[in-house]
Amino acid sequence: MRALGLVFLLLSVAEAAISVSQRRKVVQSFSVRRNASSTSTPLQVGNGNFAFGADVTGLQTFQPYAILSSWCWHNFSLPTTPGQTSVTDFTGLQWWTHDRLVTYNQPNPAQDDISTWLIKNPQRVNLGRIGFNFGRDNVSEADLQQKSQVLDMWSGELSSSFIYNGSSVGVKTSADSDSDTIAVSIESDLLKSGLGLFLDFPLPDKNKFNAPFVGVFNATDEHKTSLEKTTPNSAVIRHTLDQTTYFTTLTWTGTGAVSGPEKGTHRYSFTGSSSSKIQLTLAFSPTLQALETNHDAVLGRSQAWWESYWTSGAFVDLSAVKSANATELQRRIITSLYLTAVNSASNNPPQESGLVNNGWYGKFHLEMNLWHTLPFARWNHFPLFWRSLPDMYTRFLPSSLDRARDQGYAGARWSKMTDPTGRSAPGEINSLVIWQQPHPMYFAETEYRAFPNATTLARWDVILTATADFMASYAFHNASTGVYDLGPPMYPVSENTNPNATVNPTFELAYWRFGLDIAARWKTRQGQTIPPSWLTVRDNLAPLPTVNGTYAVYEGIPSMWTDPATTNDHPAMAGIYGLLPPPMSGAPLNMSTLRKTADMIRQVWDLEESYGWDFAMLAMNELRLGDREGAVGYLLHKVFAFDDAGYPVGGKRVPTPYFPNAASLLIAVAMMAGGWDGSEGKHFPEGWEVEVEGFSAGM
Ligand SMILES: *[C@@H]1O[C@H](CO)[C@@H](O)[C@H](O)[C@H]1NC(C)=O
Ligand SMILES: *[C@@H]1O[C@H](CO)[C@@H](O)[C@H](O)[C@H]1NC(C)=O
Ligand SMILES: *[C@@H]1O[C@H](CO)[C@@H](O)[C@H](O)[C@H]1NC(C)=O
Ligand SMILES: *[C@@H]1O[C@H](CO)[C@@H](O)[C@H](O)[C@H]1NC(C)=O
Ligand SMILES: *[C@@H]1O[C@H](CO)[C@@H](O)[C@H](O)[C@H]1NC(C)=O
Ligand SMILES: *[C@@H]1O[C@H](CO)[C@@H](O)[C@H](O)[C@H]1NC(C)=O
Ligand SMILES: *[C@@H]1O[C@H](CO)[C@@H](O)[C@H](O)[C@H]1NC(C)=O
Ligand SMILES: *[C@@H]1O[C@H](CO)[C@@H](O)[C@H](O)[C@H]1NC(C)=O
Ligand SMILES: *[C@@H]1O[C@H](CO)[C@@H](O)[C@H](O)[C@H]1NC(C)=O
Ligand SMILES: *[C@@H]1O[C@H](CO)[C@@H](O)[C@H](O)[C@H]1NC(C)=O
Ligand SMILES: *[C@@H]1O[C@H](CO)[C@@H](O)[C@H](O)[C@H]1NC(C)=O
Repeated sequence: MRALGLVFLLLSVAEAAISVSQRRKVVQSFSVRRNASSTSTPLQVGNGNFAFGADVTGLQTFQPYAILSSWCWHNFSLPTTPGQTSVTDFTGLQWWTHDRLVTYNQPNPAQDDISTWLIKNPQRVNLGRIGFNFGRDNVSEADLQQKSQVLDMWSGELSSSFIYNGSSVGVKTSADSDSDTIAVSIESDLLKSGLGLFLDFPLPDKNKFNAPFVGVFNATDEHKTSLEKTTPNSAVIRHTLDQTTYFTTLTWTGTGAVSGPEKGTHRYSFTGSSSSKIQLTLAFSPTLQALETNHDAVLGRSQAWWESYWTSGAFVDLSAVKSANATELQRRIITSLYLTAVNSASNNPPQESGLVNNGWYGKFHLEMNLWHTLPFARWNHFPLFWRSLPDMYTRFLPSSLDRARDQGYAGARWSKMTDPTGRSAPGEINSLVIWQQPHPMYFAETEYRAFPNATTLARWDVILTATADFMASYAFHNASTGVYDLGPPMYPVSENTNPNATVNPTFELAYWRFGLDIAARWKTRQGQTIPPSWLTVRDNLAPLPTVNGTYAVYEGIPSMWTDPATTNDHPAMAGIYGLLPPPMSGAPLNMSTLRKTADMIRQVWDLEESYGWDFAMLAMNELRLGDREGAVGYLLHKVFAFDDAGYPVGGKRVPTPYFPNAASLLIAVAMMAGGWDGSEGKHFPEGWEVEVEGFSAGM
């Protein structure tokens, strides 16, 4: 007791709490203000599994931003081509893999229709659109005056106001913390003289990227809507898209009615309010069920949830640092904390574009899941971490065991571009990338450091065992060198090498060692025997490949550092000392090789073409190497851009937003705030007086 008390006292002395009022002040100093709709990003309210994207009116009057959930998905009909009418007809392709043919989930040119169908289906459904109906058709945003909008991230409430035809309209929008519902209140005299609302419903489209908008509103013949049920204060609309059906429930206070759809459209109208203030709820559900329809209850839950989010969890206060760089870093931290909670705190792995729009048809990528979900643990928001972990691995385990078995491996081979059933989209890269495999070890170990108990060990054990079994079995024993090789064929983190030539990439080798080390520890902690194959592979992994005193992308890569085709895409070599801790087994990393690698990346890498999370990875590498200014410099690199509302800009390669950037920024800042094993505590630039609270050291 005494010892515990002393530890507690020391901790409290070491770290002064940041008061609730100070946290609030910092958060609200970055409230997002707009006076016009953005043409690339909405302002959002949401809860991680559901989000609503608003334009400058607080609804979706002029810009059809999306309403996305984690549950609503749609399949277009299967092809009718003979021999390609069922998903079980798809065969994939066989590639030579160490002298045997292995079947990979790749588009088969002889089965183009079913291959394409599997890539494009299912897609995530944009649930609908709601906006103001001004009583005539051709009102545009330019017809509104004094447009003004503020998103208070502390309360999760978006307040918008404007003047139309001389009268003011005020709108407040928020989202329920635990259902697919928004609460809206509207105040305007215009309500009594015809200002109404419209609702509309789109069909998904077949594009890989649906940005900034999702679906099409004019393919009305291809889907159905109907007014299912009305009462004096509510209306329910059924939307049927092939096999997918869901319900939209609008409720209102006072008088009013929903009518529609207008002929040839799926557009419904709400009119007839006799009051200058109405409160609405708009809810979406897969079944006709009793829903929360009390505006104030939804609003209250939203406010309470957001306040508890901001007052629990870790926090960084840079407000005492008199530097525009620190202020910009703080802005990115606050908006990223807000946006990752809205868009990525999902019970599925998050999508790169979150709930803003659909990237890759809305499917998620398990190799990106580390970036997306780790921040919830590092910022001490474990309840959000646990929304998807470890359950999503348990959910995808059977299909991952099948995938490994069908390819002649033991254990579970995790998918890459994935739908909610765990099916992996056919793709050459999708089927050959391997760096998603050790992620469960990273997640499990991070959780265990916070909760070192038998529950943590038990909940991850089956997953880690199946993962390590695959990793050990995937590594190929090279009889001539006596070491275990990774690949070929494979794609490394940088998806731009020849898969048949790629062997022993630096990052994957380091990550295989890390994963097997954690898996072995997991067994030891439980008093179980470590499967010998794990240790044999770990202790005989190929050495990290080097070229001229730098770590190479992979062993034998031609023209490392001199070929522009090589010096772009993700510089994952930096990840072995940024994202990953130093090795727990085997030879230590060579510090001069690490430093020289980081310098070469800075000098010759095509960072203009990089995806944003590369900058956070490089920042973490600089932190461990001792260059704190260099780390901040990467986090403020011009290619690592965040828009006025904090949405990470996709850049040249991917649409906006690209949330791995926001998430990776939070991981890097957690490292600056909490340090890492052997170098605990703050690592901000010289002279920065930063208050931090609630961080623990990373690995
Ligand atoms: C609108 O916002 C922009 C950017 O914040 C600002 O420069 C401009 O002055 C604002 N316009 C009005 C009319 O408030
Ligand atoms: C889409 O079709 C696949 C293959 O038949 C099926 O597994 C999945 O459940 C379907 N999803 C939806 C949303 O209908
Ligand atoms: C890799 O090898 C397979 C045969 O195993 C071949 O079908 C494929 O085209 C090759 N890919 C590349 C990119 O060379
Ligand atoms: C468009 O707006 C103008 C007023 O700005 C109005 O006179 C005209 O009738 C409108 N046209 C239609 C088709 O609604
Ligand atoms: C504007 O308001 C006046 C009354 O104040 C009304 O007669 C007129 O129809 C309105 N115009 C539009 C376009 O709503
Ligand atoms: C829907 O609108 C798009 C873009 O305006 C257009 O290209 C397309 O032909 C329209 N489709 C139908 C069915 O009207
Ligand atoms: C054990 O860890 C779990 C998280 O894995 C946590 O929810 C639980 O509270 C912990 N139990 C104890 C007794 O600390
Ligand atoms: C074993 O490793 C050597 C050196 O990297 C390589 O040339 C050879 O192809 C490997 N053997 C097999 C069977 O992969
Ligand atoms: C190693 O560095 C030297 C001198 O800079 C250069 O000439 C040589 O091409 C480099 N070797 C490789 C494999 O890049
Ligand atoms: C690290 O690498 C450098 C350059 O390749 C080498 O000269 C040095 O001996 C290595 N250091 C250790 C400790 O292996
Ligand atoms: C601010 O960051 C930039 C890099 O983005 C750097 O060049 C500059 O020196 C920094 N300024 C200060 C005052 O630290």
